[in-house]
Amino acid sequence: MIIGSNIIFRESLPSTNTYLEELLKSRDLQEGTIVHAGYQTDGRGQVGNRWLSENGKNLLISVLLMPVMIEPDDQFIISRMLSLAVCDFLKRYIPFCSIKWPNDIYVNDDKIAGMLIENTLLEEKIQYSIAGIGLNINQEKFPPEIPNPVSLSILTGEKHDTGTCLRQLASNLDYRYKQMLSDPDKTKDDYYCHLYRFNETYRFRDHDGVFTGRIVSVSDSGKLKILRLPGEIREYSFKEVDFIP
Ligand code: BTN
Repeated sequence: MIIGSNIIFRESLPSTNTYLEELLKSRDLQEGTIVHAGYQTDGRGQVGNRWLSENGKNLLISVLLMPVMIEPDDQFIISRMLSLAVCDFLKRYIPFCSIKWPNDIYVNDDKIAGMLIENTLLEEKIQYSIAGIGLNINQEKFPPEIPNPVSLSILTGEKHDTGTCLRQLASNLDYRYKQMLSDPDKTKDDYYCHLYRFNETYRFRDHDGVFTGRIVSVSDSGKLKILRLPGEIREYSFKEVDFIP
């Protein structure tokens, strides 16, 4: 087992990603170490957003990865692997979930999990990657500033033991991580099967305005390719395109 044989639990931390980064500066940690917090006072989300989570209700973890064989230009492969592991975990409880590019996990049109992956490069290689995952398990009321949250307990109508959920998620992460190390391309088909709004016609918005299009692929570098109907393919980085409900 690479992921989950060393789990460090703290009742409260500013952010599990920040804590793991700091810890690494003071001592060696084995690959696959998980930092798990009951609460974060300064939980961090994508693009400087905050990640808010009620005390003790959800999973707040950061995983230390050392995927030296992944080229920095292909670092989205790590996101693909993590997203699939979170979906594998959720499908123990619910029939379907999807991966909203780039780093969110959705059930229907609601967000159940988010990821913050921070890679540190050394000599043009990924030296280590801190993969932060916030997964809503038992929270049922959310602050109004969170646009479309959902949790496992809202979906199943039951409370879930977070310790059991962590062990299950660690095992799903371990499986997908080993799969990625042995053959990074292997996760691609599964990824497209789970990709939110893949290959279906929807409306999007970019700097030119609203358009109708279809997601055709996501590159290993993480660019989203959308076919703008009737026929031009454009590539987008994070925040360059919005999905319209
Ligand atoms: C997002 O959707 O904006 C990403 C959210 C990532 C939240 C997790 S919770 C555990 C880890 N520690 C953090 O400070 N952030 C990530």
